[in-house]
Amino acid sequence: MIGVFDSGYGGLTILNHIRQHLPQYNYLYLGDNARAPYGTRSFDVIYEYTLQAVNYLHEQGCNLIILACNTASAKALRTIQQHDINPDELRVLGVIRPTVEVVPQRTLTKHIGVLATPGTVASESYVIELLKQDPTLVVTQQACPMWVPLIEAGEHLSEGANYFVEKYLTELLTRDPMIDTIILGCTHYPLLQPKIEAFLSSISHSQSPIANRHISVIAQGHIVADSLMDYLLRHPDIAERAKIGGKQTVTYLTTESATKFSESASIFLSEPITAHHIEL
Ligand code: DGL
Repeated sequence: MIGVFDSGYGGLTILNHIRQHLPQYNYLYLGDNARAPYGTRSFDVIYEYTLQAVNYLHEQGCNLIILACNTASAKALRTIQQHDINPDELRVLGVIRPTVEVVPQRTLTKHIGVLATPGTVASESYVIELLKQDPTLVVTQQACPMWVPLIEAGEHLSEGANYFVEKYLTELLTRDPMIDTIILGCTHYPLLQPKIEAFLSSISHSQSPIANRHISVIAQGHIVADSLMDYLLRHPDIAERAKIGGKQTVTYLTTESATKFSESASIFLSEPITAHHIEL
């Protein structure tokens, strides 16, 4: 069974792609909604919460876990891989490395914008990993502390969300008007993608000083799914252990109210789901 973990609903944007690309596996999704957002928390707390979730998913029978959360990938992944798990029993993968690998072939100007939580921005993980891919890239990060709370509150489609979408994108593009590629470096952010794309296309037609040529927006779902497919091909033993015989099942767990999660997740996934409450 493959575990997929996020602080809340954001990992659903990854799970959606993974389960379509890899239907031969069962999935256990865990959203730590009761303690979201993680993005404004300290390194120690994010590490502790993420480790609790990893241990829980392992106890439930997952031998492969995707941290479908950039904040956890940035702040907890390496320590967990190096100190907390036995790789013969469990593998834990993140979402940052596969994302940065696709960037060099997407940009013409080599100016990259990264939208992420304050925690991911402070970790500098994207800057470090992008420069490993290509040291000539110019990377500008923008923390978007209001976006995850808006999404967790189900307000991401509201008029009010426009203000914060425009605010952070304007700040980013004012700091570097040469940006032609923007990474959505938080798995919640694809839920705001229609508003992000609409704003970018509105400025590309305006006389604003940040008017730009086409800016491509990178969301992580299909990238992580492709990378996982590749990983499982390279690790047939892990693939074999995670595989199922019959029909795919996806189980949803949350540390918040199961009813609340089921309602919101059904909207995000465009299909009815039933979640179960757990304590970490
Ligand atoms: N989806 C998480 C991420 O990718 C959100 C973090 C948060 O809870 O702030 O970073």
